[in-house]
Amino acid sequence: MRYEAIRIKSEVGRCLLCHEAPCTKACPHGIRIERVMRALRFENNLGATRQLGSGNICVDCEAPCMAACNRKNLDRPVEITRIVKDIKNSHMKIQEKRPDLSIDFCGVHCENPFFLSSSVVGSNYEMVAKAFDMGWAGAAFKTIGLFLPDEASPRFAAMEKESTPFVGFKNIEQISDHTLEENLEYLKQLKIDYPSKVIIASIMGQNEEEWAILAQKMEEVGADIIECNFSCPQMVGDGLGSDVGTNLELVQKYTKAARRGTTLPILAKMTPNITKMEDTARTAIQAGADGIAAINTIKSIMNVNLNSFKSEPEVTGKSAVGGYSGKAVKPIALRFIHDMKKQEALENIPISGMGGLRHGTMRRSLLQWAAKRFRLQLLSCNMDTEL
Ligand SMILES: Cc1cc2nc3c(=O)[nH]c(=O)nc-3n(C[C@H](O)[C@H](O)[C@H](O)COP(=O)(O)O)c2cc1C
Repeated sequence: MRYEAIRIKSEVGRCLLCHEAPCTKACPHGIRIERVMRALRFENNLGATRQLGSGNICVDCEAPCMAACNRKNLDRPVEITRIVKDIKNSHMKIQEKRPDLSIDFCGVHCENPFFLSSSVVGSNYEMVAKAFDMGWAGAAFKTIGLFLPDEASPRFAAMEKESTPFVGFKNIEQISDHTLEENLEYLKQLKIDYPSKVIIASIMGQNEEEWAILAQKMEEVGADIIECNFSCPQMVGDGLGSDVGTNLELVQKYTKAARRGTTLPILAKMTPNITKMEDTARTAIQAGADGIAAINTIKSIMNVNLNSFKSEPEVTGKSAVGGYSGKAVKPIALRFIHDMKKQEALENIPISGMGGLRHGTMRRSLLQWAAKRFRLQLLSCNMDTEL
């Protein structure tokens, strides 16, 4: 395998990366060979493998791609068919060696423990389908309600540090701005097209009746798990989002209402804008939730302009308190999860952990560590990363 890797690298290094590549034009299988080469140049072997598809290409092919290769005018053509064979082989070996990371979470089978957390990157069919294609086992869809929020724009701001693009991220986004009907259609189609993937439907009602109706509708279109958003810190209306998660009475009332609407497992999503998350979590579990999702974003003001004293994001001269997330919040998320897991009543309750998880490459060691320390089941994150 190591030899194959060296051979691929040195042969790909000979490619001239031609504009309007003649190799691609010549390929009888319609393979975008120049894309394969570029992906390999950037050590994106998985991307290159995807370009090749699953068919048995290059077998019994007279390699018109190599006959067309411009490199032959310098010395000899790039050995395209050899490269294709090598990457297909090494991909097969990786697949064979791939460990089984599947888990059962709240009684639902998951291919691996990596999910997208509910956010703007999972707010329509295409986004979630792409995440599934990239390997995520499931996704918590952007929170769905019966009302449409009046969204501000811009609604994001990043906190930078030296050369790091962002260590912290602030958003003032509320729930999905698609209609209930549109969202139900997305979920239904996702379940039809990706039956083995897990769909967590995140919901937010404005009263008990809405919580029950939303939970019921999510089940009807094929969601696997319901997540109650008791935690968005920047909802404009009263009694919504983190107003619920900071009020034990509302947590109890709305969890019970969601429970009435569905037989699916329910997760209660916690707000960190509180001192003792374990009290909120226990209340939700006693009221019928099966597990906990933690953490949502932290109330924040950031990037204050010292001339105007406005903070980012500034919208038509105004700014607002918004939710802070990203790398900087991981220690805070871990502290809350640690405190919950130390409680006897919550010790064996499944937790979907999120907040500050960033590097796909860290996933296994992070999972092993988190699983050992906190007996965490799911790790969610709202990024667009390849698994
Ligand atoms: C732009 C944006 C939109 C979000 N929307 C939702 C939402 O609709 N529902 C929800 O429960 N959480 C929402 N979240 C919170 C995330 O699901 C997650 O709990 C939080 O961002 C912490 O994880 P992270 O540090 O990996 O971003 C949102 C976060 C961001 C950044």
